[in-house]
Amino acid sequence: MRRFLLGEKDIPKKWYNLVADLPPLEPPITPDGKPITPQMLASIFPMNLIEQEISRQRWIDIPEEILEILYRWRPTPLCRAKYLEEFLKTPARIYYKDESFSPPGSHKPNTAVAQAWYNRQFGIRKLTTETGAGQWGSALAFACNLLGLECKVYMVRISYEQKPLRKIMMQIWNADCVASPSNETNVGRDILKRMPDTPGSLGIAISEAVEEAISDKTAKTRYSLGSVLNHVLLHQTIIGLEAKAQLRIAKEKIPDIIIGCAGGGSNFAGLSFPFIYDKINGAKIEIIPTEPTACPTMTRGIFAYDFGDAACKTPLLAMYTLGHAFIPPPIHAGGLRYHGMAPLVCQAINEGIISARSYNQLQCYESALLWAKTEGAICAPETSHAIACVIEEAQKAKEEGKEKVILFNYSGHGLMDLAGYKKYLSGELTDYPLPEDELQKSLRLIKGLPGTKRMR
Ligand SMILES: Cc1ncc(COP(=O)(O)O)c(C=O)c1O
Repeated sequence: MRRFLLGEKDIPKKWYNLVADLPPLEPPITPDGKPITPQMLASIFPMNLIEQEISRQRWIDIPEEILEILYRWRPTPLCRAKYLEEFLKTPARIYYKDESFSPPGSHKPNTAVAQAWYNRQFGIRKLTTETGAGQWGSALAFACNLLGLECKVYMVRISYEQKPLRKIMMQIWNADCVASPSNETNVGRDILKRMPDTPGSLGIAISEAVEEAISDKTAKTRYSLGSVLNHVLLHQTIIGLEAKAQLRIAKEKIPDIIIGCAGGGSNFAGLSFPFIYDKINGAKIEIIPTEPTACPTMTRGIFAYDFGDAACKTPLLAMYTLGHAFIPPPIHAGGLRYHGMAPLVCQAINEGIISARSYNQLQCYESALLWAKTEGAICAPETSHAIACVIEEAQKAKEEGKEKVILFNYSGHGLMDLAGYKKYLSGELTDYPLPEDELQKSLRLIKGLPGTKRMR
């Protein structure tokens, strides 16, 4: 069998909260070093999501109205990559969770729908957000449209230029999408004055979206983040919970290796956290988040308190970071161009539960092409960072002659990302491994921040 399907009735009814099973996280803090209170976040997020953000409860009920919307595409299939296995002549069995099935084409709507729903319950009328490649922006536009909320998306300028079709998707779903930095916020105007040619970054776009949300005098606008925060990762755990049930149908035990690409960490976490529960309870699993060498947050960043955005408007989070002012090179995996990483993913690294790897852009495109030629589908450039690692591990299993089970998250399709493929095919793309002096320059800016001295 190649596809393992669940019926509507089998959809998980609760999300899994890894916070319950790890030692307490370092709390988010203010710039003067004090722990953030829920009240301090109230102008940015609705209180019902803030409660989820700080919850230590292991299982959290998924409201029926959210499930009703998720049924549009969930449960997603678990598939076996038989054709890739045959091409590689590997004894490994490769499974993937196909999150490209959602209407916007990635895992992002799993949390977009939940966040829009909780905001609407709280009486909010408009959501603002950032987007890199446009996957998150289009997911939130889709969710807001279904739930009757207004939506404003600040799209990182380089992606706005590289991926114009994503902008049209957002417009179809009634959202307003502008290139960031923009002339619509103080942060945007200031950056445009200092760096008129900047490609933009997720950090800058977040600052703009937060500024718009907190400046609304009617207090009916909130900000929505597509990754990084605990509640976002929580909403994505439906992926791993479904995968567990599907692996049972495939008559497989717990996988030997689990892989996901990581920008802010949400699709990786969504697939792997329910299995981390098993690892904490004794299962032997190698769990690998993958990232670009151009933006090597987990593999070369430092663990420190840092801002989530470029203009220092968010609380400081304890995380692996390249420095909040870091502007990653314009690689095509726009959703992986983020200077920080989800604190929960970072905590799992520090606990020795997971271990990250980085990949060059050209190797990722080469892997994406092999995937398209064997399995058929064209993956998102972000997803290709997981596929590069899957191929590496499948080849290793062949060398070792071991029948390993590899599971990865197929986080999205690349049908809106063909401009990058075109450049790859015509030989115009290059690798951008981050030079050490640039990294050190960016890290120097955060050395004096409060709390950093407590970190390793
Ligand atoms: C298809 C796809 N995969 C992965 C990512 C990375 O985000 P995250 O680490 O939150 O899953 C993105 C982000 O935009 C994406 O669009």
